[in-house]
Amino acid sequence: MVAHRTDDAADFATSLIRAAGPDPSRLLQHLIAIQRRYSFIPPGAVGRLALGLDVTPVQITAAVEFYAFLHAEPRGDYDILFSNNITDHMQGSLTLFEALCVRLGVVPGTPRLDGRVTVDLTSCTGMCDQGPAALVNGLAVTRLNRARVDQIADLVEARTPLGDWPQELFAVADSIRRTDILLSRRETHGAGLRALLDRGVDAALAELERSGLRGRGGAGFSTAAKWRLCRDTPADAHYVVCNADEGEPGTFKDRVLLNAYADQVFEGMTLCAGVLGASQGYLYLRGEYLTLRPRLEAVLERRRQAGLLGQGILGRVGFDFDIEIHLGAGAYVCGEESALIESLEGKRGVTRKRPPFPAASGYLERPTVVDNVETLLASARILAEGAEWFREMGTSQSAGTKLLSVSGDCRAPGIYEYPYGVSVRQVLDDCGATEVQAVQVSGAAGVTLAPGEFDRVLAFEDLPTSGSFMVLDHRRDLLDLVQNFSHFFAHESCGFCTPCRVGSRLLRNLVDKVCAGRAGRYDLAEMRQIGGVMRATSHCGLGHTAPNAVLDTLTKFPEIYERRLRSDDFEPAFDLEGALAEARQLRGGEQQASGDRL
Ligand SMILES: Cc1cc2nc3c(=O)[nH]c(=O)nc-3n(C[C@H](O)[C@H](O)[C@H](O)COP(=O)(O)O)c2cc1C
Ligand code: SF4
Repeated sequence: MVAHRTDDAADFATSLIRAAGPDPSRLLQHLIAIQRRYSFIPPGAVGRLALGLDVTPVQITAAVEFYAFLHAEPRGDYDILFSNNITDHMQGSLTLFEALCVRLGVVPGTPRLDGRVTVDLTSCTGMCDQGPAALVNGLAVTRLNRARVDQIADLVEARTPLGDWPQELFAVADSIRRTDILLSRRETHGAGLRALLDRGVDAALAELERSGLRGRGGAGFSTAAKWRLCRDTPADAHYVVCNADEGEPGTFKDRVLLNAYADQVFEGMTLCAGVLGASQGYLYLRGEYLTLRPRLEAVLERRRQAGLLGQGILGRVGFDFDIEIHLGAGAYVCGEESALIESLEGKRGVTRKRPPFPAASGYLERPTVVDNVETLLASARILAEGAEWFREMGTSQSAGTKLLSVSGDCRAPGIYEYPYGVSVRQVLDDCGATEVQAVQVSGAAGVTLAPGEFDRVLAFEDLPTSGSFMVLDHRRDLLDLVQNFSHFFAHESCGFCTPCRVGSRLLRNLVDKVCAGRAGRYDLAEMRQIGGVMRATSHCGLGHTAPNAVLDTLTKFPEIYERRLRSDDFEPAFDLEGALAEARQLRGGEQQASGDRL
């Protein structure tokens, strides 16, 4: 292993602290910067950060252990992470992953001896419509195939700097397939903000309330009620946070909104700030979307120049608000709003006890609105166009439209905007899906639908969704999906509470046992029971939803389990006969070699 030069790591940490001030909430951002420079977090940097930010070295080490993109040991100069989502698998990612490991002579997850490269897997990278995908030093590479894998291997072997790699490798398409009221416009040039200033805060809130807008991140809480609660909580500061963590497997609509509609997302944040009286906002951008950062910074700067951000917005004295981008570092749970706030404060993303909800006590214990990217964009358009314009679309409890991220077995994966109330069957027809075996709605945490349910509709009344829509046709073994999700949750559980920490691992082991053909009927009952306990007793939404795919498929697709069962009885998890057979074989080999007799 080539030693990485880290003798200036403490000085680098000092320069970071000097630039941002001794603010402990900057810790995660500093760690990300250090990771990018050295490929790991050197001990010298830990010591200096601890001193400069007044946190303990143990807190820093715990944060490094928590986030998947931070490492205590050096990674390769090129750190290549293949997306491990089921849709990437369906597109052949694992074969390509193995091919690259062989070409480069690396053991997965371990830096090559010369320190040049690491090849590993990571959770869904949000490129499901153009997979198989990977991240190279954080930058997304899409549409991988054998030729691209060979090209990457050649570039790595030639030590080509990442900036000189062919740009087409990093091309990320928006793939917008169906537009409706939200996607029909890319910019509003401050129309929502002007409406707020003309009408006043109370009228603006009333307009938002009349529109019936509900959060698009999954829970569907009334946006106006959340903003009102936050505004009415007295404090010396209020905050606005845009949740762009988008870690739900199969979801990528927020990536497209931030790439092509960021202006309106920032407008929504600014409106919210105007209502709350907040002067600071944060865009929490998942680390996997690093590619978007320069473009987002440029949009922010443009808005500042246009008087839509900064001091005295649109000339109104006292309307001061700005937005900072805060990067995540590879932790699905940080999409949960209280974990996100912990992460924003620089800590491990462990979910908080609720209540109090963030709207009452959030970032730095101040009232904070955390809203999804799509929610904020919709609020900007509602203020500009009026509540009726929005209300006309959708159903009685689900006003407006919903963006879907469609992927998997279909002719036209991509982004589809539909009025709420669209049927699953309609979406399948539109995206060119045939011989569909199942649809996974709302990601790994969502629901697995059988063909008999395709007339159900996407709406809070029936199938609420954060937007992920994964199609699996008859060629697929649904157990692959269940196994993929059970590994995902066991990996992403933050470990804070026992039902989720232990339950997700037990479920993963049982699913593996079924897949290996070693399970009995007893194991299926065990899976149901563990899933039920996780749903009922876990601390946060991750644990509540982690057993969904197992429980859904046990009920709706029992045959996928039945055909793998070994017996109706209890089957031990440890394959004693198999292990003994292996030992006998080894022993036999040794005895033969030494001329012994059995
Ligand atoms: C494990 C977990 C992950 C989540 N991930 C996201 C996410 O990536 N984006 C998001 O907007 N909401 C996510 N949520 C929901 C948020 O906690 C929160 O409800 C949402 O950001 C509120 O915004 P909204 O009212 O606009 O929907 C997640 C929740 C859980 C339990
Ligand atoms: S349910 Fe899971 S993710 Fe949520 S707090 Fe418990 S261990 Fe952490």
